[in-house]
Amino acid sequence: MKIDVLTLFPDWFDWFRRQRHVSNALALGHSLEAIDLRATTPLGAGQVDDTPYGGGAGMVIRVDVVAAALGARWRADPVEGRGSRRVIALAAGGRRFDDALADELAVEEEITLLCGRYEGFDERVHEQLATDVVSIGPYVLAGGELAAMVICDAVFRKLPGALGHESSPIEESFSAALGGAPEYPHYTRPAEWRGHGVPAVLLSGDHGRVHEWRIERSRRRAGEGL
Ligand SMILES: C[S@@+](CC[C@H](N)C(=O)[O-])C[C@H]1O[C@@H](n2cnc3c(N)ncnc32)[C@H](O)[C@@H]1O
Repeated sequence: MKIDVLTLFPDWFDWFRRQRHVSNALALGHSLEAIDLRATTPLGAGQVDDTPYGGGAGMVIRVDVVAAALGARWRADPVEGRGSRRVIALAAGGRRFDDALADELAVEEEITLLCGRYEGFDERVHEQLATDVVSIGPYVLAGGELAAMVICDAVFRKLPGALGHESSPIEESFSAALGGAPEYPHYTRPAEWRGHGVPAVLLSGDHGRVHEWRIERSRRRAGEGL
């Protein structure tokens, strides 16, 4: 998988690329490149934004700036280029990112993430350059960089070999193995802490009963909305 992130802050991704499952994925041949939107701007002095038509506070990232960055990266027309890859504009009001979308993205060969700043992108970025507009939640961040990292984190950990323990991403919260429910509770040593014990079934050594208990607790959490 090849992930490109277009951002005004490419340095933010230096730290992210060093995190274990990300570096594992990169070592396996996947890629994550952070591309500076200012590097290819057709405007002077590194300008990428402009005042909004209709007035109002804040600046808007220009569509021609994003198009120039995509065109330079793909060496192709930026509108036609989205036909052969997933291009995701990050926006607070977009489609909510969830495990199903992470699964969908984990089988893509190429993904481009567009990180907004200021008031966000000119709407024509969403309409003409992106294939998807995605939000990581109903709140407003200062920029799309953390949202891009959230998506990359969730997607990379689904790639075979990115996590040390192969079975860990299978039976997890929201996975098909748990019917989309949150994961069951975990416990480890000590068996008793300040008078709080561990459910006896987990100490029983009976794997069948442990499995039943876990599924029941997972379903109960789903019912409780936890
Ligand atoms: C300050 S925000 C713009 C907020 C915008 N004016 C609004 O009211 O929705 C700047 C950028 O941060 C990113 N961003 C902010 N919140 C986000 C969220 N919840 N999910 C994904 N991206 C977000 C987007 O790329 C956005 O263009």
